[in-house]
Amino acid sequence: MIEVRGLWYSYGEIVALRNVSLKIELGEVVAIMGENGAGKTTLIKHFNGLLKPQRGYVKVFGVDTREVTVAELSRRVGLIFQNPDHQLFAETVWDEIAFALKNFGFPKDVIERRVEWALKLLDLYSLKDESPFALSGGERKRVAIASVLSYDPDIIIFDEPTVGQDYAQKERLAQLIKLLQSQGKTVVVVTHDIEFVAENFPRVVVLSRGEVIADGATRKILTDNEILEKARLLPPQVTQIAWELSDFGVPRDLLWLPEIRDAILKIVGGRL
Ligand SMILES: Nc1ncnc2c1ncn2[C@@H]1O[C@H](COP(=O)(O)OP(=O)(O)OP(=O)(O)O)[C@@H](O)[C@H]1O
Ligand SMILES: [Mg+2]
Repeated sequence: MIEVRGLWYSYGEIVALRNVSLKIELGEVVAIMGENGAGKTTLIKHFNGLLKPQRGYVKVFGVDTREVTVAELSRRVGLIFQNPDHQLFAETVWDEIAFALKNFGFPKDVIERRVEWALKLLDLYSLKDESPFALSGGERKRVAIASVLSYDPDIIIFDEPTVGQDYAQKERLAQLIKLLQSQGKTVVVVTHDIEFVAENFPRVVVLSRGEVIADGATRKILTDNEILEKARLLPPQVTQIAWELSDFGVPRDLLWLPEIRDAILKIVGGRL
């Protein structure tokens, strides 16, 4: 689905990606984490061909991204930018979401149906006639998400989707990712939000200074202090408590609230 091999990318003197290799399979849901400037955004811009490898290659659906245009790729690979203002420009929310659909040449009735669907999915229906620029930051971000989901790409890449979202919207976003996965979509999410990853992602790729320093099961990686320190991440709160209580027999690799509750109850129960 996405294959990155030996990828290097520099902006002038600044080396943003150093020999990055990874594979993302069809239907996978993957988080990409790492410190500010680690190269996350640079990496995902290679997935829809916005950036082309300077060394190594990126293949999407088996095709080298240097051999296709961004327009061709973006029909199947939807990228939702870190800053929604780089993506929004239409006069109303409705037009904004319809724009890509029109561009891809969908018939009018399909456009109407898809826009309505996306508006409702992202809780934006009541804002459909507003200007995107009159919306709050969190709402603008959701418009950017809706405008990509509306044309139904096979791969959806989110850059920092939880920033500016309140708890309820974050929960909706988690549900949305599950929905996309159940439809067989491939979902890649760049985020600093470790709790969001612990709860929703089976696999994490960690970048640090342009290199992949870890790639694998979330439970293994998010409870590995060495990796987390390198990427300037704090462990999930549940994990931090587990470490504090490890002398009492609580396992160190816990991620979820029910797990730590059960581990503590087991110890307390044993002493009663
Ligand atoms: N357009 C650009 N011109 C010059 N340097 C850039 C450009 N975009 C990114 N960089 C540099 O490349 C490196 C990687 O940047 P990138 O945006 O990929 O990091 P990131 O992991 O997404 O960071 P953040 O968590 O802050 O979003 C940084 O050192 C950054 O300063
Ligand atoms: Mg970034």
